[in-house]
Amino acid sequence: RLRVLSGIQPTAGSFHLGNYLGAVRQWVALQESHDAFYMVVDLHAITVPQDPKELRANTRLAVAQLLAAGLDPERCTLFVQSHVPEHAQLGWIMNCLTGFGEASRMTQFKDKSARQGADRATVGLFTYPVLQVADILLYQADQVPVGEDQRQHIELTRDLAERFNGRFGQTFTVPAPYILKETGKIFDLQDPAIKMSKSASTPKGLINLLDDPKVTAKKVRSAVTDTDTVIRYDPEKKPGVSNLLSICSTLTGTAVTDLEQKYEGKGYGALKTDLAEVMVEFVTPFRTRTQQYLDDPETLDALLAKGAEKARTVAAETLAQTYDRMGLLPAK
Ligand code: TYM
Repeated sequence: RLRVLSGIQPTAGSFHLGNYLGAVRQWVALQESHDAFYMVVDLHAITVPQDPKELRANTRLAVAQLLAAGLDPERCTLFVQSHVPEHAQLGWIMNCLTGFGEASRMTQFKDKSARQGADRATVGLFTYPVLQVADILLYQADQVPVGEDQRQHIELTRDLAERFNGRFGQTFTVPAPYILKETGKIFDLQDPAIKMSKSASTPKGLINLLDDPKVTAKKVRSAVTDTDTVIRYDPEKKPGVSNLLSICSTLTGTAVTDLEQKYEGKGYGALKTDLAEVMVEFVTPFRTRTQQYLDDPETLDALLAKGAEKARTVAAETLAQTYDRMGLLPAK
């Protein structure tokens, strides 16, 4: 069995449609066929200021949403990053292998620090991708299911794994990104030139899975398309319609070409009305299930304790090997 690992930040409260279609949906599928490790990355979240109470609540909320989306702790290892101290420990090692210039080239850091203001961006935000490298290498992951925006971080992971292996002997599996073409990048419903995201999206262009389904339906119905009326998949010339077709295709399991045929001669309104309905059918039970998991925090915490224990067994072994290869004196 190949191993997969991935993570999601707990920062924003509700997951958005891009998180789900770009990543979480694949996590659910891969737990059936792979040895799967999934985590809520609270240590990554604190690279920007967090309110302690909210962070704690949002971490549980993220876990509840992952369960509601279909993760099954019997089929995967689900845990919270800070419960496994080896992440921070291997993170330090990886910091000592990363070039300053190399870290400076990470585009997500550039975007985020620009948004924060250069003086307010922390060193933690700067080394964020390096902690992500440690997350992945600790588990010897073969594949990392993520959205397109994480590709550069996986590239960095590959570079550092190869560098370490070259210098100190074969230690880490060099992982491959697992990014789906159709859903690797979901776009803002109001501005299909930008990806859907909490920080950059317009409120009307962002679909939060935990929003009132009525609000969601309205957002879908008022999505931006273009001036002609032909429903055709063409991301270059018709990014808005193509985004809706990708979303609809994935949520209904219908091929895009079949959707094109179905809506031939009909206007955008028909597609949007149908998609709004599909979305409502998806988010309504998702919200209910999330709430059910939240209502029972003891069970949630117990399940996380088990997950962390499973994760630690693997992580501790990799870390011990890494320390040894680098020549750190073992504690007696
Ligand atoms: P995060 O929390 O920003 O996002 C979680 C996942 O959602 C994907 N995603 C999207 N996919 C398609 N279209 C979109 N518009 C869209 N927006 C977000 C992201 O690509 C991601 O897969 N750095 C990571 C978390 C992380 C991680 C890891 C991932 C930490 N350690 C180790 C994999 C392996 C992040 O910030 O994801």
